Amino acid sequence: MDSAVGLCSSPRAWGCGWNIVRLLCFAVISLVLVTQVEVGAWTYHYGDKSDYSWELARNFCRSFYTDLVAIQNQGEIAYLNRVLPVHKPHYWIGIRKINNVWTWVGTNKALTKEAENWAKREPNNKGRNQDCVEIYIQRKQDAGRWNDENCQRKKRALCYQASCQSSSCSQRGECVETIGNYTCDCYPGFYGPECEHVVRCKNLDPGPDCSHPLGEFSYNSTCKFQCQEGFELQGLDTLQCLASGNWTAVAPECAAVKCPALATPARGRLNCTHWHGDFTYNSTCSFSCNMGFVRNGSETLECTALGQWTGRPPLCEGRDTLLTVGCPVNCGV
Ligand SMILES: *[C@@H]1O[C@H](CO)[C@@H](O)[C@H](O)[C@H]1NC(C)=O
Ligand SMILES: *[C@@H]1O[C@H](CO)[C@@H](O)[C@H](O)[C@H]1NC(C)=O
Ligand SMILES: *[C@@H]1O[C@H](CO)[C@@H](O)[C@H](O)[C@H]1NC(C)=O
Ligand SMILES: *[C@@H]1O[C@H](CO)[C@@H](O)[C@H](O)[C@H]1NC(C)=O
Ligand SMILES: *[C@@H]1O[C@H](CO)[C@@H](O)[C@H](O)[C@H]1NC(C)=O
Ligand SMILES: *[C@@H]1O[C@H](CO)[C@@H](O)[C@H](O)[C@H]1NC(C)=O
Repeated sequence: MDSAVGLCSSPRAWGCGWNIVRLLCFAVISLVLVTQVEVGAWTYHYGDKSDYSWELARNFCRSFYTDLVAIQNQGEIAYLNRVLPVHKPHYWIGIRKINNVWTWVGTNKALTKEAENWAKREPNNKGRNQDCVEIYIQRKQDAGRWNDENCQRKKRALCYQASCQSSSCSQRGECVETIGNYTCDCYPGFYGPECEHVVRCKNLDPGPDCSHPLGEFSYNSTCKFQCQEGFELQGLDTLQCLASGNWTAVAPECAAVKCPALATPARGRLNCTHWHGDFTYNSTCSFSCNMGFVRNGSETLECTALGQWTGRPPLCEGRDTLLTVGCPVNCGV
């Protein structure tokens, strides 16, 4: 029963009632006395009479804990080598050759070159079928390093109890087991110990039509811009807040639609009122003619929302012209 007490002292004691039941069942069925020591969240376990083949060792770990250990860094290796007792046949860990690739069985991910920790001249597949991996604990040579071994050999199961739960890291990051706890490797756009914070972008001036799925002007917020009649957008009409905290582009501006510039008529004057810039939407221009000349065309033109004047610019014509068009006698002084 010592073993059960050890387990209950773990911070995850809520699951321990059931674990005790399973532990007892396993002990009865396998008729071995199970001993275990708990070290933070890392636990190792072994029958004092017999060790297990790799498969059985894995079953054992999965029955009572999470799995055979998945070693993540040199710090953990040093830790295990320090706290585990010497045991001649050594300890099984959670790596196995699957389709000729060394694979972490817990995550089903291939062992990367950087994570490898083989002993010298290993893996050598000596005697063939060395498809499982053991770790040398406190061995004179290559302590803490790995060796490929025949999976039928009997060794101690080196199990771990996971700290990560489905709710860890706010489901906004990868939960990474550490000794005694976990850390969160947050997905882009999130930060904080539990990835509880969302990256923010700068607030935009009022106007755009925005949706904020994760928070005000935050990662994945999207804003659509529109201009009033007579104005056109300069830039992109939609911005999105990126995981970097930058908008996908600078906010666009609304510039007044332009009409063709008008020239001062020959023998006349031009007087324009501009609201939004020279010869743009809503600009109004009035024409007048010099003494002795007469305007032919409208007095005022206005620049429309479509960028066109309301008519053609008038001409200032000489009186002679008027005279020729049937002016009564004496009308031209
Ligand atoms: C475990 O790690 C998480 C995430 O970093 C943290 O929020 C929590 O406080 C830690 N728990 C303990 C007991 O250290
Ligand atoms: C953010 O938006 C992208 C699409 O733009 C979507 O694929 C992703 O799931 C969103 N992320 C979150 C956390 O909502
Ligand atoms: C993102 O914003 C940072 C400042 O917060 C700036 O230094 C960086 O150049 C921006 N990146 C892009 C791609 O605009
Ligand atoms: C131009 O027109 C405005 C009103 O539309 C008027 O107040 C102003 O005196 C005019 N300027 C000239 C030089 O005629
Ligand atoms: C257009 O001009 C009129 C006067 O002619 C003014 O009252 C109105 O505010 C202007 N509209 C815009 C959008 O500039
Ligand atoms: C005004 O000009 C048009 C041509 O632009 C011409 O056909 C018309 O006769 C002119 N009207 C007068 C009164 O001079």
